[in-house]
Amino acid sequence: RAAGDDRPNSEGRDMFDQPTIADFGTAIADSRRITYLAAPIVDGSPVDGAARPVRSPADGRDLIGNCVEATPADCARAMDSAARAFRRWDRTPASTRAAALDRAGRLLQDRMSELVALIVREGGRTQGDAVSEVREAIDFCHYYAKEARARFGAPIELPGPTGERNSLHLHGRGVFVCISPWNFPLAIFVGQIAAALAAGNSVVAKPAEQTPLVGAAAVRLLHEAGIPFDVLHFVPGDGRVGAALVEHRHCAGVAFTGSTEVARIIARTLAGKDGPIVPLIAETGGQNALIADSSALPEQLVRDVVASAFNSAGQRCSALRVLCVQADIADKVIEMLKGAMQELVIGDPADITTDVGPVIDHDARAVLEAHCRKLDGEAREIFRCALPEALAAQGSWFAPAAYEIAGIEVLEREVFGPVLHVVRWPADRLDELCDAIAATGYGLTLGIHSRIDETVAAITERLQVGNTYVNRNMIGAVVGVQPFGGEGLSGTGPKAGGPHYLLRFAAERTISIDT
Ligand code: SER
Repeated sequence: RAAGDDRPNSEGRDMFDQPTIADFGTAIADSRRITYLAAPIVDGSPVDGAARPVRSPADGRDLIGNCVEATPADCARAMDSAARAFRRWDRTPASTRAAALDRAGRLLQDRMSELVALIVREGGRTQGDAVSEVREAIDFCHYYAKEARARFGAPIELPGPTGERNSLHLHGRGVFVCISPWNFPLAIFVGQIAAALAAGNSVVAKPAEQTPLVGAAAVRLLHEAGIPFDVLHFVPGDGRVGAALVEHRHCAGVAFTGSTEVARIIARTLAGKDGPIVPLIAETGGQNALIADSSALPEQLVRDVVASAFNSAGQRCSALRVLCVQADIADKVIEMLKGAMQELVIGDPADITTDVGPVIDHDARAVLEAHCRKLDGEAREIFRCALPEALAAQGSWFAPAAYEIAGIEVLEREVFGPVLHVVRWPADRLDELCDAIAATGYGLTLGIHSRIDETVAAITERLQVGNTYVNRNMIGAVVGVQPFGGEGLSGTGPKAGGPHYLLRFAAERTISIDT
């Protein structure tokens, strides 16, 4: 079928297939012979400057490449160039914009192995996670290309009851600032940019400080796919770079994925600026709960709990943080959970057998360790995985842990890593449990394990969350299938990979012509 037709999502790779394992193994070995560079890319040209080393979270001796951080002057040049390019890009037919995104999707598919290698090394993600991530990036490109064709191709004709011709036109808003996180250094980075570009915006993109190399590779690929140099600029750096972009007078919209605290800072900055009112699309964290009643199947429940809490070392905003299990089955489930945690393979993410890799950096590890020290005084440890000694000294490693706590309310904030909390709830206290979950203020993901339809309906009616998963795991939202994003402390609501997402990046204008 022609590119851009209603196509299925990208194909997976069989991670048990020997040629596939060999292919990724070779790509990782090849990537060790490259010294990668992430420098600001303004108008297509890399900017020179002092470079800092980028090392693998799995092993600090693994020097992957170097990063030149953007200066305030680089940020200003990128914003000014993007502002000049905006109108031309917005007037470019949506089908042309979409064709470039479809080409980007195909290039991502062609380069899957080398991108997987870089994601594994820079992000510390397992090979399976990295494959899923490249697939998600591919799917975002094709999905937003399709949406751009369908919605931005021609104006919508509206009724004209008084004889007027009325039409609704969608446009880009201007320069969109895209600020993305390290936990999905490719998929979220590309997803934000692809959505903004599809809707007709020009973009200045800042990758997470920890993962600039994947971001640089993605921007070069998007340029190669035909996104003009002046329409997409790349400015790696820390929060100061983000602040310079958000504060800039040409910033017409911000897409941010990261912590609730930083989203608030961005919102305050935007609110305090003179000039136009600038919208913020924020996807932030969660205090994600899974409620299991006594009709849940324990084997299935424990399998889904382990996947939801420990996949990606718990470093997904969708990850399960609090398992709420009905008291009648709690002992059995906790015993099975211990057994399942014992089986987890903690190790080098470049090794195909690894289940859990490192956490992103030493700061993240320190936060997790402080949290567990606090829990050691006030909660019951259920199980702590053993960390292979050889690893501990090399990188930012943290062994998965599970604790039984008195209630979700004892957790003051989201704990972003492989720490699972377990709460028992008495059969007659489901309403109180739901109220306690709601009182956290977050609304990102929710798991339910129950065979009783009325219970499922009662819970979903009571809780306001973006993504609810019933009798399955609660991670890995699929583009176009489970549009992803939360409410309350979890974000401003837009659903990435959903049919309304591009509208959040757009300006809507009506034209009424009296005939
Ligand atoms: N979209 C990701 C997931 O569903 C976010 O963490 O897991």
